[in-house]
Amino acid sequence: MARHVLSLTELSSDEIRQVLNVSAELKHKLKRGTRESLLPNYVMALLFEKPSLRTRVSFETGMRHLGGSSLFLGQDCGWGGGREPVEDFARVLSSYVDVIVVRAKSHASVQELAKHSGVPIINGLTDWSHPCQALADLLTVEEHFGTLEGQKLAFIGDANNVSRSLAIGCAKLGVDFAIAGPAGYQFDEAFLDSVRQLPTAGEIVSTTDPAEAVDGATAVYTDVWASMGQEAEQAERAARFAPYQVNAALMRHASDNAIFLHCLPAHRGEEVAAEVIDGGASRVIEQAENRLHAQKGLLAWLLT
Ligand code: CP
Ligand code: NVA
Repeated sequence: MARHVLSLTELSSDEIRQVLNVSAELKHKLKRGTRESLLPNYVMALLFEKPSLRTRVSFETGMRHLGGSSLFLGQDCGWGGGREPVEDFARVLSSYVDVIVVRAKSHASVQELAKHSGVPIINGLTDWSHPCQALADLLTVEEHFGTLEGQKLAFIGDANNVSRSLAIGCAKLGVDFAIAGPAGYQFDEAFLDSVRQLPTAGEIVSTTDPAEAVDGATAVYTDVWASMGQEAEQAERAARFAPYQVNAALMRHASDNAIFLHCLPAHRGEEVAAEVIDGGASRVIEQAENRLHAQKGLLAWLLT
């Protein structure tokens, strides 16, 4: 059975630690000009149903750095379009390539693909989770502060794919996590309980009060209010989330040395004020760069 990474739930704390260590090491080597050929001639397929800049380019570049190559498959390969059964699609595609990165509208469709794939599937974003993003985010926090110990990440906004992956990733590595969003857009108790029950979990808070969530945080994070596929809810969400903008006033509740993070793409004037995302505490470009390093670490860890 191939080992898949559809969410961080499937990786143990030790395994996430290993991936981050490999990522940091590969980043360090790249900065010194070394591109180690750990996956010579490996072929990665990228099966994408939604747009992407960071995920696509960082995976394709990362695989090239590691000595392999990639194939970008858009909608015309027939996945999910009823052209052929998913069993046949998965078995055929996985007979050609060594690893498949999938960005899909529905998490269930990726689970279905994984059931029939003979090679590892990595989730490059679904409606439910975005594990590669959270790996890069944890790498960014660790790199900035030198350690994850004693850190608190506050997510202001929607209980979505990104915040869900961060909640799991933080709990797996002992980082305190708080999320603030309006009623009706929060995690359910079952999910919060599952995260709190992880043996490594620190404090896990869910609140409607953004100042409470940000209190003492060393990293303040936000994401769009309406994710891809929720465009029709944009106006309603903009109204509900308006009190949840990350701006300078909110950042004053955080730790003095707090950094600001956003998975990007960002909407200035909505979930984040320009003064914050373009200000001195912002690490969003370093964070986006770390997608490359974290995914190289994940590929090397998973495939060697
Ligand atoms: N953060 C992120 O996943 O960006 P893309 O949608 O551009 O891949
Ligand atoms: N929550 C966002 C993240 C984009 C990287 C979305 O799913 O559209």
